[in-house]
Amino acid sequence: SIFELPDFDGHEQVVFASDSQSGLKAIIAIHNTHRGPAMGGCRMWAYPDSTAAATDALRLARGMTYKNAMAGLPIGGGKAVIIGDARTSKSPELFRALGRAIDQLGGRYITAEDVGTSPADMTFVREQTRYVAGLSGDLGGTGDPSPATALGVFVGIEAAVRHRLGVDSVNGLTVAVQGLGHVGYDLARRLHEAGARLIVADIDRANGERAAAQFGARIVAPDEIVDAQADVFAPCALGAVLNRQTLPRLKCSVVAGAANNQLATDDIGEMLRDAGVLYAPDYVINAGGIIKVCAEYLQEPVDSVEDRVRAISGTLDEVFQMAERDGIATSRAADTLARARFA
Ligand code: NAI
Repeated sequence: SIFELPDFDGHEQVVFASDSQSGLKAIIAIHNTHRGPAMGGCRMWAYPDSTAAATDALRLARGMTYKNAMAGLPIGGGKAVIIGDARTSKSPELFRALGRAIDQLGGRYITAEDVGTSPADMTFVREQTRYVAGLSGDLGGTGDPSPATALGVFVGIEAAVRHRLGVDSVNGLTVAVQGLGHVGYDLARRLHEAGARLIVADIDRANGERAAAQFGARIVAPDEIVDAQADVFAPCALGAVLNRQTLPRLKCSVVAGAANNQLATDDIGEMLRDAGVLYAPDYVINAGGIIKVCAEYLQEPVDSVEDRVRAISGTLDEVFQMAERDGIATSRAADTLARARFA
């Protein structure tokens, strides 16, 4: 049963929602609401079975508690997953049914877009509940959160190179960016404007070529970006990119990027430390998007968002200092600081 899943531990509430007319099968996991209502996006994925879906929801919800706490937001952590193929099984009714299920939770969980869902899908959720954020501009939303995420990663890279290399900016440094999507491309632009040299890779050739033309980036094959001779490696594509196979190949002294769940397993954090690589914990450095979405939900002034995204730099300083003082991995330091904030 779900109670026996190792990831269930620590969760406050898990809700299974179904609607036969629209075909909705969803799981809403509320991990922790000590800091406020649980906020986290809704993922749509063709999970092989309900255990896989539940495990994903539980892990992602817990991750949001840590991320939101470290960003200093007055919200807890939660996540929803819809079991289904986002390319073939979406309908307005499906998202309306999800909206009704969320509404019944009375504000304990607030959803937003995530992998497989879009601001357009959220407009149907909004028809049934006000507990949704990340809406498009015409519905009072603030649009794509990716530029805010990219800004947070940029100031995070600056904090990391200051700490590790003792330099004040990325000017003259080489940064390898893996993935030039919504976040990675905007990050590459900021790095280029700040005087960094870029090495880039994307499975979509056009993205790399655009970065080469606009930012003078050097393109390498997707499976070679991990080996790049660079000061900083910025993963902005997939999860689990730091693992036992890739670790010995790294030539950088800093890993700092937007991708979620960069460490394949927890002990990789220690291994990075032993290898002399400074790792900026993913959920700390990539919080710019949730900071923006949360501000939108709480109807806070848009111009307060940038300062708070830039504050990610100070939070990372705190993490790096604690790790150094206590002789522990930065990933462990971040977890400890986060737990103290949501306990
Ligand atoms: P995206 O889907 O727009 O971009 C991902 C890019 O990576 C695409 O251009 C894709 O072609 C490329 N890619 C995929 N596999 C690759 C590989 N093996 N090698 C090289 N390139 C590859 O996604 P987005 O929004 O830019 O997000 C990037 C990462 O950041 C994801 O892990 C996401 O979960 C995370 N993230 C994004 C936030 C946001 O505000 N968009 C917020 C927090 C985390």
